[in-house]
Amino acid sequence: MPSAYIKGIGFYVPANIVTNKDLERHMDTTDEWIQERTGIQERRYGTRHQETTSTLGTEAAKKAIANAGIEPNEIDLIIFATLSPDYYFPGCGVLLQRQLGINKTEIPCLDIRNQCSGFVYGLSIADAYIRSGMFKNILLVGAETHSMGLDFSTRGRNVTVIFGDGAGAVVISATDEHFRGILATKIHANGEFAEELAMINPGSHGGVHAADPSIYGYNEAEYGETFISQKMLDDGMIFPNMNGQLVFKNAVAKFPEVIGEVLQASGLEKSDIDLLVCHQANLRISQFVQKAMGLRDDQVWNNIQKYGNTTAASIPIALAEAVEAGKVKKGDLISLAAFGSGFTWGAALIRW
Ligand SMILES: CC(C)(COP(=O)(O)OP(=O)(O)OC[C@H]1O[C@@H](n2cnc3c(N)ncnc32)[C@H](O)[C@@H]1OP(=O)(O)O)[C@@H](O)C(=O)NCCC(=O)NCCS
Repeated sequence: MPSAYIKGIGFYVPANIVTNKDLERHMDTTDEWIQERTGIQERRYGTRHQETTSTLGTEAAKKAIANAGIEPNEIDLIIFATLSPDYYFPGCGVLLQRQLGINKTEIPCLDIRNQCSGFVYGLSIADAYIRSGMFKNILLVGAETHSMGLDFSTRGRNVTVIFGDGAGAVVISATDEHFRGILATKIHANGEFAEELAMINPGSHGGVHAADPSIYGYNEAEYGETFISQKMLDDGMIFPNMNGQLVFKNAVAKFPEVIGEVLQASGLEKSDIDLLVCHQANLRISQFVQKAMGLRDDQVWNNIQKYGNTTAASIPIALAEAVEAGKVKKGDLISLAAFGSGFTWGAALIRW
């Protein structure tokens, strides 16, 4: 059975830097509040009418493919993870395939959601496909354009200040070298908290998950007008919402737990980890996890200060940056871990 390893990696972030001070002009917030609670100093926003989730993903994918030393048409599966797709349907996978100019190969494109855990979920899917022998070179992309769908009034400040745009990509390939590449992945979910970090509207829920359907913008029209209603627009109900403290509490418990699971599955210890790359949710969460794992500062890679939380893109951006900075050597043990909306969470262990 072949093993799966990361043959190429790349990331792309838009040039447009938005500082905390820039946000102060739109909502009642301060640079001090944002830095103290989240560690974020600035984030990137895509150029309007030019950059989208699929175009950011395409730029990252081109770098990952070049880094892998293969041609785009050698990719035999695309997995695209995002919560901010260009279209409600079809997914970004087919747009990326077209933008890479490989639509004539007619390879399958798999779109996954899984929000902040999207990259780790995607890695576990790619790993299983490679091991099964079904595919040889899988392109996994995590990309987001949050800036187009956030509430820039004070009402949305607890969510809006956190998120940024960007993309990261990896080429995952088959190798006969065992004990190299992806050693273990573990993925989990608990739907009990589905609405605690969510974008409810627009959607086809029809208010059925709420005791009072009107709080989800439910409309009494005989047909239609439930996916998106005037009430949703008038009452500003079309933005993401987050129960920050609940997310924080669960994240700091689940990150160390799931990292422990991949270590145990591989017969390894916390002390064997050379580099931990956590989903960049909040610097305070990452620091908490670092402490719980007993890791030094030079054993973790954080870049949320520069990019904010880029959801499915945050792990591949951070990993690609760490690789570019020479922080990752062949043979190093890398742990990736994510937690987010769903709640979903997961971890992976990679021998580089
Ligand atoms: C979002 C988060 C930073 C908020 O910090 P917190 O200490 O929990 O703050 P609270 O939500 O209790 O709000 C405290 C106060 O700050 C205010 N506030 C919220 N956002 C603000 C902002 N951007 N600027 C200024 N004040 C803000 C609140 O309105 C509240 O004011 P009040 O006390 O007058 O009611 C924190 O909960 C968090 O990081 N949670 C995890 C979020 C996360 O990681 N999400 C991504 C998951 S993948």
